[in-house]
Amino acid sequence: MAIIKKNTAVFISGRGSNLKNLIIFSKKEISPINIKLVVSDNFKARGLAYARKNRIIFRIIRDKNKKLFEKKLLNYLNKHQIEFICLAGFMKILSKSFIDSFGYKIINIHPSLLPKYKGLNTHKRVLKNADKYSGCTVHYVNNKIDSGKIILQKKVRVLKNETLKSLEKKVLKIEHEIYPKSILKILR
Ligand code: GRF
Repeated sequence: MAIIKKNTAVFISGRGSNLKNLIIFSKKEISPINIKLVVSDNFKARGLAYARKNRIIFRIIRDKNKKLFEKKLLNYLNKHQIEFICLAGFMKILSKSFIDSFGYKIINIHPSLLPKYKGLNTHKRVLKNADKYSGCTVHYVNNKIDSGKIILQKKVRVLKNETLKSLEKKVLKIEHEIYPKSILKILR
């Protein structure tokens, strides 16, 4: 029996490799999501090209005022009957009032083994601390940065000669594995 796919929005601010990966996933029969909307706070976000290419509606909201930003965001989400949000490199923190008003699940991907290394420059900090492992985490979003309940994590070994670039590449690869897996885990 075909599953009913949830109307999903993906929020991005930059490169969009996770968006690209989620678009590919969303087209599979087993996928419980249908990406109907892409939102960015940055009109230069390279990832917007994937929305264009796949004919997904995208909206850019640039208001500096958080209330106004979130008001516009909620309008778009309601207009497109969005019932699930995936954050994928989205650089803004959503307020509790936004999260409550939206009322459906919001998840995020983060390039570290949370609760270690919340925030930015995770790979740099891993290397600086000479950690043996790093990885990535998919978690629910609350109004504190990278702090919601964890859905899935995956580890990678940090090698002796690891560089920022090689670590980022390695972690991004497993991000693309666990984001779809996490969605399957919570929506199926
Ligand atoms: C990823 O490393 C993600 O974990 C983090 O921001 C980066 C976004 O990369 N939140 P991309 O834009 O999906 O390529």
